[in-house]
Amino acid sequence: MALEKKIRELKEKREKMLLGGGEEAIGKQKAMGKNTARERIMAILDDGSFSEYDMFVTHDARDFGMEKKHLPSDGVVIGTGTINGSPVAIFAQDFTVAGGSLGLMHSRKITKIMDHALKMRIPLIGINDSGGARIQEGVNSLAGYGEIFFRNTISSGVIPQISVILGPCAGGAVYSPALTDFVFVVENISKMFITGPEVIKTVLGEEISMEDLGGARVHCEVTGNAHFFATNEEECFRQIKKLISLIPRNNSLKAEPVEVKLPDPLYDIEKIVPGDPTLPYDVKDIIRAVTDGSDFFEIQELWAKNMVIGFGRIGGNTVGFVANQPLEMAGVLDVDSSDKAARFIRYCDAFNIPIVTLVDLPGYLPGIDQEHAGVIRHGAKVLYAYSEATVPKITVIIRKAYGGGYIAMSSRHLRADFVFAWPTAEIAVMGPEGAANIIFRKEITSAENPDEMRRQKVEEYKEKFANPYVAASRGYVDSVIEPSETRKLLLHALEVSADKDVQMPSKKHGLPPF
Ligand code: HXC
Repeated sequence: MALEKKIRELKEKREKMLLGGGEEAIGKQKAMGKNTARERIMAILDDGSFSEYDMFVTHDARDFGMEKKHLPSDGVVIGTGTINGSPVAIFAQDFTVAGGSLGLMHSRKITKIMDHALKMRIPLIGINDSGGARIQEGVNSLAGYGEIFFRNTISSGVIPQISVILGPCAGGAVYSPALTDFVFVVENISKMFITGPEVIKTVLGEEISMEDLGGARVHCEVTGNAHFFATNEEECFRQIKKLISLIPRNNSLKAEPVEVKLPDPLYDIEKIVPGDPTLPYDVKDIIRAVTDGSDFFEIQELWAKNMVIGFGRIGGNTVGFVANQPLEMAGVLDVDSSDKAARFIRYCDAFNIPIVTLVDLPGYLPGIDQEHAGVIRHGAKVLYAYSEATVPKITVIIRKAYGGGYIAMSSRHLRADFVFAWPTAEIAVMGPEGAANIIFRKEITSAENPDEMRRQKVEEYKEKFANPYVAASRGYVDSVIEPSETRKLLLHALEVSADKDVQMPSKKHGLPPF
């Protein structure tokens, strides 16, 4: 009898906590297309798998009326569960409770689950929906953020860290996501900024909406801070589950293999690249022509589109694709596309995911804008990331591989393990037109018919250098292959390199140009 009473009491206490900030606040949340913190967790995790911790934690702040404020679960829900049977740690800020603001106990709950995730070597998913540092708790709130940032950094490269922005994310609240591996946003719901519209108005006298300042599209298309864009929360949750299925739980494991599927015959690899080398094509069609089920999970799809990155499976195993996109700016490397590729290469390397690089680019983007934006420093990140990566690196040169672009895009010289080239590959210091104009300038200008002479010299240069055979004759390219052989050779290369083991010289850490 006594036990029954105690259980009833527990249930009542739980019920109160589960109501969060109350029906009115929940109603407001729903009206914005937002789920509650616990609903979000349940939607991401396998049914019935969530185990919540610290439901009864409460703050002991005493200033600015806080002594009278009861904040259920202190505005954040933490726990563990599974996604497709694989364990994860998770937290979700509850905006219905003091705007999900971060006070000391709130931050301690988050750091507790972060410590747990690191100790158990399982992914951490953080759902952010918060007005930032809890103003009434002063420096304790700032301390809380500092503790979170420190743990984000220590866990980096050991366990996957995923941030989901499902509400405002202001001030210190954006830096934790920025330190994590993948950031998910939802249209009209997600906002990320360091200083909000109010501050901007006060300091700069400018009026700007939260959406224009740091809405989901801004971070997917302009800043590159976010990696996945969804139009509603449910779509976002599906994306998270898909990502988790493609990556390993921690840095000492490989991603779980799944059953092998053949690519969809719709993607005819021989027909994707146009005969005329000046015409563009969609490199994602080549990726889909070689992946299991023609499935490609693209990352940062809306930003720096001249570079395509993402995961696919070949022979049931996850690989990371890094590919120039001839459809956008001829696939050049510039400041943003270099950043995009370099970070992804480092992700794959940290988590034992082989990298397949598809090359077709005229080089780095020339011009004062790029030079002044730091293309030297940003471009160098690609060189650094490929050189440093010790996971299997397989390169396929599809068409143009000119100049610095050739070297940067996982060339043999940066220790690619396998370099294949299609017969359409052109590996040279620069394009035939530019090259002929420079090295045959005298012949062209002094010719009776300069245009005809230029045409001849361009042809001569093309004949000699704009092909894969010079590189193949030096062993920089291992094999010149037919496009239709690509998947078979990728499968073979992945099989051969499954136990690749390369040791780097001992050091505390390198100094990548970031
Ligand atoms: C305490 C907060 C809060 C905060 C919101 N609330 N933000 N309480 N500290 N930071 C409370 C509100 O008082 C309100 O409480 C409830 O949450 C809902 O907030 P509303 O303003 O009614 O909601 P909404 O209109 O949707 O606006 C959301 C918002 C706005 C845009 C997030 O609340 C806002 O601008 N908040 C302040 C953002 C901010 O400047 N944060 C500090 C950043 S500095 P009641 O009781 O009325 O329901 C920072 C420093 C860290 O984070 C640096 C670390 C490096």
